[in-house]
Formats: sequence, structure tokens, C-alpha cells
Amino acid sequence: MWTQLALAVALVVTIWSTPSTTIRYDGHEVLQILPQTIEDVHKLISLAKKYHLDIWKSPRYLNETFDVRVDPDQITDFVHDIESLGLKADHWITDVQKLIDEVTHTRNRRATFSIGAFNDHNSINSYLNSLASSNPRVTVHSMGQSYEGRDIRYVKISNNVGTNKKAIYADGGIHAREWLAVTTVLYFIDQIANNPTQDRTIEALLGKFDFYFAPVVNPDGYEYSRNHDRMWRKNRRPVVSGCYGVDINRNFAYHWNPDNGGSHNPCEEVHSGTHATSEVETKILQNFLCSHSNLIAYLNVHTYGQYWIYPWGYTPILPSDYRDLDHLGRTAATAIRHTHGKVFTVGEDTRVLYAAAGGADDYAKGACGVKYSYTVELRDTGVHGFVAPQSYIIPAGEETFAGFKAFATELIHYEHL
Ligand code: ARG
Ligand code: ZN
Repeated sequence: MWTQLALAVALVVTIWSTPSTTIRYDGHEVLQILPQTIEDVHKLISLAKKYHLDIWKSPRYLNETFDVRVDPDQITDFVHDIESLGLKADHWITDVQKLIDEVTHTRNRRATFSIGAFNDHNSINSYLNSLASSNPRVTVHSMGQSYEGRDIRYVKISNNVGTNKKAIYADGGIHAREWLAVTTVLYFIDQIANNPTQDRTIEALLGKFDFYFAPVVNPDGYEYSRNHDRMWRKNRRPVVSGCYGVDINRNFAYHWNPDNGGSHNPCEEVHSGTHATSEVETKILQNFLCSHSNLIAYLNVHTYGQYWIYPWGYTPILPSDYRDLDHLGRTAATAIRHTHGKVFTVGEDTRVLYAAAGGADDYAKGACGVKYSYTVELRDTGVHGFVAPQSYIIPAGEETFAGFKAFATELIHYEHL
């Protein structure tokens, strides 16, 4: 009887404390490979395609690594192929599931919101609402509903003094598994709305700018990555039988092209959609970006790799004003480095990272004329990769916000605002 009861209790405890992640990554490794030539890079990419691997990071420069997740049955063959190319595969993360388990702590699964935790979409939305009802600087709005009907909310933060102000917008979570992007945008919101340290820089910035922040622009994917598959990247629209999701950051209607860093295949991580703006989330974001004509800057926040990069993502040809974007990007990176020592690489998308058409940054600049449009890739450089631990939330928030403040402050001077 007692054993039965104990078993029942144990079962209940297990069900309650185990996240309902259905897809597991036991024994999955993340290999880091250092290509020697640009041909090596191309060979690595076709190899990853052959094995249907999840590319975590693709290098642009030869001193940068190629990070790829490999499942246990494929490791031997894949490593063999790598070695026949004359390259060496470093077993960088040896058990992705173990990393996930460490991070998917019960603390992150509670329903009450905390700036220092990975919150669910519902509690993030309630937090935004409660902030708006208690703080006269904040108003909360809806951009529209995701495919599965979740409300994509954003806040406007303004000191409500002055007219014709320029505005800065940042969003997070366009890629579902990049949870640190969500927490970092929330960190920005908390700092600017509440200004807990009574920082005069923040007050000065509010004198010149209105701010818009949307912490979770792909809520269906975000919830799916919380509850079912930690490695989910895309949205959750069923595209063909058995394959779900479009990579929203390949779906924007500016030089959209699946053959340029995306994919026609709905089963792949970087599926660009059947046509530009095929996804409701893309449509909502495009509307937002182009309907706020006072936007001067946009940060599309991602993880990982530590980059502060600017258009174009579809071509290596630089925008005519790239010097301005480069200067402001460097200002941000310097402030980040001075916070916790993290080094962020600044440059144009395709030169620093890789070509990928249909990105939000290109659309904001190319279609809506948001001059200072960036993709920001947060921590780290591969130790945890997409599975950022909870201990990163506050330091990543601090350093990125330091970069953001320096960026916005310099923007005032540089643009004579
Ligand atoms: N990691 C981002 C992605 O793959 C980088 C996007 C850079 N911007 C671009 N337009 N390609 O979506
Ligand atoms: Zn991303």
C-alpha cells in the first residue's frame, strides 16, 4: 500500500516537475569545425545538407567556426566525412539534452513573471499589461495575432513630452529557440520604463526618442520551443504534411529569395515560405515597421555569436550610408565590451555572417526606410549556443542595454537630433 502510494506520489511529482518536452536531444553533439579555405566552408554546408543537420553557426571568415548539431547515429559517419576533407571536428557540446535539462529548471516554468527568468508567453503579456496600467510612460498595444491566435504585443515607452520625436524599435524571439533575445528585450523595457537606477542617460534618451519594444514576435514558435522542442526555430504553420513552419526571418518582402540563404523545402530550418510575406507574423511585422514613419533605428535581436550587424543580408554590396551604420554599431560594441568584456563583431550581414535574403533588417531599411537597422546576435560564441543558461539573462541584459544606451546617445549627436 505504502509503496503504491509512494509510487503514485513519485509519479505525480515527476509529471509536475518534468517539462513536457516531447523531443529529446540525448547524445546530440554540437561539433565545431574550423574551415581552412572558403571551399571548405561550401563543402561543410553541403555535408550538413546531406545529413540534414541543424547548422548552428556558419562562418564567413576563415578564422571562424562552423557549428553544427549532429544526432548520435550520425556522428561517426559525419566525423569520418569531415576528416576525409582534411578537417578536424571538435566535440564542443557533447550532450545537447544535458544542457537543455540544466536550463529548463522548474524556476523557468512557473507562471509568475520575473526579469531574471525565461517566462512563458502568457506571463510576458500579463507583465506588459500590468506595466502599462501602473506606469504612465508605458502603453501596451497589439500588432495582431499569430497563426495559432496568440496576441503579439508591443509596448510604447514615452515621456509624453514633445512632438515629432524619432523612435527606436527592438524586437526579440523571431526565432523561437533564442530565448535570451526575449529576456533581453524585456530587460530593455524594464530599464527604460522603471529606470530603477535613476540613470540620467535614460531620462535624456526619453527626451529625444519614443521607444517601441516587442519581446516575442514569434509566440507560437516560442511556446512550442518551451513545451515540445527546445530547438524549434520557425513559426508553427503546417506547410506540408509532416512539416511545420517558415523561418520568419527569411520571409520578408525585400529581395526575398529562398535560393539565397533560405530554402524552398518546408522541412528545413530556414524555409523561406512559398512566397514573400506568406506568414501572418511577417505581415504583422512589416506593417508595424512601415507604418511608424518616425522610426530611425531598429534592432532585430537574436542569439548567438556576438555580432552587431547591418544590411544587406541579401547581397555583399554595401548600402551607400554603411559608414553611418558601422560607426553606430561600433559605438554599441565598445560599450558592450566595457560592461562584461564580451567582444561583438560589427559589420555588414553577408561579410560578417552569411548571406540570407528575406530578413527583417533588410526589410526595415530597404522597404520602410529605417536607416539604422541591425541584427544583434547576443551571447555566446558557442559554449551554450542556443541553450543559454538562466545565469546569462541579467549580464546579457546589462551589456546589451549598455550598448543600446551608447548607441542611442551617439545617435542624438551624430544625427543632430
Ligand atoms: N542569424 C540571423 C538569421 O539567420 C542573421 C540574420 C542576418 N540578417 C540577414 N538579413 N541575413 O536569420
Ligand atoms: Zn536567430
